[in-house]
Amino acid sequence: MKKIGVIGYGTIGTYLVQKIKEDEELELVFVYDIDKGRISSLEKVCLFDIEKFNERKSDLVVECANLQAVRDYAPLILRKSDMLIFSVTSLADDSFKEKLEEICKKNKTKLYIPHGSILGLDGIYDGRNILRSVKITTKKNPKNLGRKDIELTEVYSGLARGACQAYPRNVNVHASLALAGIGFDNTISKIISDPHTNVNSHLIEAKGNGTEFRIEINSKRKGLVTGIYALESAYQTIKRICSENYGVNIV
Ligand SMILES: NC(=O)c1ccc[n+]([C@@H]2O[C@H](COP(=O)([O-])OP(=O)(O)OC[C@H]3O[C@@H](n4cnc5c(N)ncnc54)[C@H](O)[C@@H]3O)[C@@H](O)[C@H]2O)c1
Repeated sequence: MKKIGVIGYGTIGTYLVQKIKEDEELELVFVYDIDKGRISSLEKVCLFDIEKFNERKSDLVVECANLQAVRDYAPLILRKSDMLIFSVTSLADDSFKEKLEEICKKNKTKLYIPHGSILGLDGIYDGRNILRSVKITTKKNPKNLGRKDIELTEVYSGLARGACQAYPRNVNVHASLALAGIGFDNTISKIISDPHTNVNSHLIEAKGNGTEFRIEINSKRKGLVTGIYALESAYQTIKRICSENYGVNIV
């Protein structure tokens, strides 16, 4: 049975905690949130001091808090445990990413990047040497983007690295796509604010060497930034990482 720790008990975290508790193949060993009041009802699994996370002996720590949480805790966690992060824009900082990679190599741990709200990262990753152009267009309600637009507005168009810096809470999937494919300085990002939508939409267009992908994902919003699909996909990603299934495996 794999032991799971969760950092961030918000929209994704509460969904995951419920699913992990119901799952006979997973054991929830801690939940940490900077807002202590949120986790106190969780009794023996709540963790009030992240420095003591290793006392719970987790196999996998899942971050679903924010970019700052990755910056602050990933170097500590990855010395002892594998980690899955949802705040992927944190890796748009090359020196931070290199630092984490060094810690992983030294300690034989893994940092997992989920497909999260989008699809097809496996295909993009496998095609990364033949793809010449990768573009992602994200459309969200202005409330998600912290804006007050009253008409359709293009709020960002440029390199994925710049999108991650400008909208770190909203373009985690741009960061994942850049990491899987042709990098932060070659992936093109567009962000559109649409006051008439309550779904998060992502359109991925990739081409190169006679190959072309067009992947569109629309998912109704659950929390302020997270779509419904991302919740179930987060849980299933944990299942895949922890799988001890000796039969058919989808990779
Ligand atoms: N990769 C993806 O596809 C994807 C999809 C959806 C959301 N996300 C990202 O996942 C993260 C979580 O999303 P959410 O919708 O659950 O957010 P949320 O705002 O609903 O919940 C975040 C929780 O983290 C806690 N928190 C904040 N800072 C913390 C810290 N330093 N240490 C511990 N806890 C802290 C908050 O108190 C809150 O309970 C966000 O960064 C979001 O942008 C990624």
